[in-house]
Amino acid sequence: MTVPPLIVAPSILAADFARLADEVRAVEHAADWLHVDVMDNHFVPNLTIGLPVVQSLRAATELPFDVHLMIEDPRRWAPGYADAGAYNVTFHAEACDDPVALAKDLRSAGSKAGLAIDRDTPIEPYLDLLPSFDTLLIMTIKAGFGGQRFIPQLLDKVRAARRHVASGHLELRIEVDGGIAADTIEQAAAAGADAFVAGTAVYGADDPAEAVRRLRGLAERATTGA
Ligand code: DX5
Ligand code: ZN
Repeated sequence: MTVPPLIVAPSILAADFARLADEVRAVEHAADWLHVDVMDNHFVPNLTIGLPVVQSLRAATELPFDVHLMIEDPRRWAPGYADAGAYNVTFHAEACDDPVALAKDLRSAGSKAGLAIDRDTPIEPYLDLLPSFDTLLIMTIKAGFGGQRFIPQLLDKVRAARRHVASGHLELRIEVDGGIAADTIEQAAAAGADAFVAGTAVYGADDPAEAVRRLRGLAERATTGA
């Protein structure tokens, strides 16, 4: 698999859940990953989908799945998503007392390992753990619901992570999630993000595939300074 310089990952949280397979296929040739938000009504107040839906969807598309677990006790549940064929499985730092051990479990189960940092969590305590991870997801909202307003101050964490990744020569995607749209993606890219989750900005658009392409163009322009 060739590695694209930037990743755009539509979040199906903003899709029509009664037509999930069609909604996924609508972005199949434009997106890099499909972002799947799993919420358990405990770690966050919202409740979405779980393993059976991910297993069924896996058969409906070629897109790599970027599973974002907003759940308690991820050590119990996360490897099941790797077993189901997820490309990347991200769990929250706030929900796990041994993130490095779970990252190892995920890699042995065959997926990439991702660490998510919620709005109110500082990044510094986690920087030294990053060599154990493939993706770092920095929330640009409070995790739990789509359609919230982007919080630009949270990009300071992206800048800190990017500096750390560069100075340590780490191979790590820095992903942003929450309020990413045409008017915010450039600042996130300029701060050092190279993977972009977008729910409302993609599935709220008349043409979701075109919305993905537009977001990618804006992020590329901000990264290359073109
Ligand atoms: C919220 C989820 C996001 C959500 C983003 O906790 O993690 O992935 O779908 O939605 P938008 O892009 O609408 O902010
Ligand atoms: Zn998400």
